[in-house]
Amino acid sequence: MSATYIAATPDKATEKKSVYIETFGCQMNKSDSEHMLGLLDDIGYAQIDDIKQADLMILNTCAIRESAEDKVFSYLGAWKKIKDKRPGAMIAVGGCVAQDEGSNLLKRLPYVDVVFGTHNLHRLPDLVLKAKASAESICEVFQELPEDLPEIPVIRQSDISAWVSVIYGCDYNCTYCIVPFVRGREKSRSADVIVEEVQGLADGGYKEVTLLGQNVTAYGHDLEPKLHLGTLIERIGKIDQIKRIRFLTGHPRDLKVEDIDAVKHVESACEYFHLPIQSGDNRTLRRMARGYTVDFYKRVIEQIRERIPDAAITSDIIVGFPGETEQEFMNSINLIEELRFDAVNTAAYSPRPHTPASDWEGQLPEAEKFERLRFMNSVVTDVAHKINKNYVGKRAEILVEGRSDRHPERLMGRTRTNKIVNFDGDASMIGRLIDVEIVTANPWAMRGKL
Ligand code: 5AD
Ligand code: SF4
Repeated sequence: MSATYIAATPDKATEKKSVYIETFGCQMNKSDSEHMLGLLDDIGYAQIDDIKQADLMILNTCAIRESAEDKVFSYLGAWKKIKDKRPGAMIAVGGCVAQDEGSNLLKRLPYVDVVFGTHNLHRLPDLVLKAKASAESICEVFQELPEDLPEIPVIRQSDISAWVSVIYGCDYNCTYCIVPFVRGREKSRSADVIVEEVQGLADGGYKEVTLLGQNVTAYGHDLEPKLHLGTLIERIGKIDQIKRIRFLTGHPRDLKVEDIDAVKHVESACEYFHLPIQSGDNRTLRRMARGYTVDFYKRVIEQIRERIPDAAITSDIIVGFPGETEQEFMNSINLIEELRFDAVNTAAYSPRPHTPASDWEGQLPEAEKFERLRFMNSVVTDVAHKINKNYVGKRAEILVEGRSDRHPERLMGRTRTNKIVNFDGDASMIGRLIDVEIVTANPWAMRGKL
């Protein structure tokens, strides 16, 4: 990784320019993109949806699996053609692939104007202005976040629900995961600063906040005095106008009973936990270096369900980890049925650079991994369908987010347990909490009636 520091250019643009942004990957990346738009607004760039008209095209990349990385190169290939037709247009590449590849990206893709990493988002305007003025490509990637986290402007894509990063990075070293290499060590934002941000959102009419972190359940352990996620939830719970608090993503080892109690007692905290288990097999968990056993994980789920019986619990599971036997895979399948997950993000293991497991023996053939994935998805769908059918005939409070993507004549909202509900209603309901009766349910969504 290179870390060339380029001096700030104080020059502010007067003429309005346009930026198109494409975001791959997790919520953290989506949130980062909103901050990129905020930063670029300061130098006169306004977001547009038509890439062909854009003065600046930004690709915010994801490195979690090889397929996501491949997509970066195929997109940029297409973007070069657009750039060639529009003299003066620029391409910037940020996010996890940029952090990992740094100047190698420029060697491979010399037509890219700016490469910036995940730790120097705040430098984007300067880099863009500098590249524009010099007509030379620039790469700037920091190894770590700045000691004092800069407060970065933001232009949010929703005016109902907002993402708020509370902790960056991850201190675990799971043997398959590239995240610690591209997102660095855990670093929490101060609780006062977070609460102030959420108060600002409340004043601006937002109803929901999602507290974000690669490992949000580690929040506050690095602060003086130490804090935990539950404390933060309790403080945000006092802000009346915020009706819903969510948090993503947790690590089973770090979720404390105090955090679960906070979700139980704070009215606005939603009964929804996303806790990746990654495998239902002890030998695999040990080789993944997850730091817990299946029994430990089950006890965490018990603690949640004892306190909050209706809580929805979702998870992440990887299939086809190197050396995973048929029986070990079946242990994951059985666990999904036993624990009755509301949803599981499943993925076929993908070897990643810097990670120990990528060069272990026993890599499974792609066809085997995808067969396991297909089977697991069918089990996940069956379990989700059974759970969702239990909602039928009951009333649910939903926060109306907008129109349904597939049926724009309908509205779409979510229950506190994060289930999607589509229903017929009028646009004045968008942004409001309303009660609906659930009339039908499929594994992914439900239909509601006012
Ligand atoms: N291959 C497949 N899936 C992975 N994940 C992380 N690294 C890999 C990998 N190398 C999955 C994990 C994680 C989610 C965000 O992505 O399940 O929880
Ligand atoms: Fe990756 Fe493990 Fe950290 Fe999650 S906890 S981001 S899987 S290293």
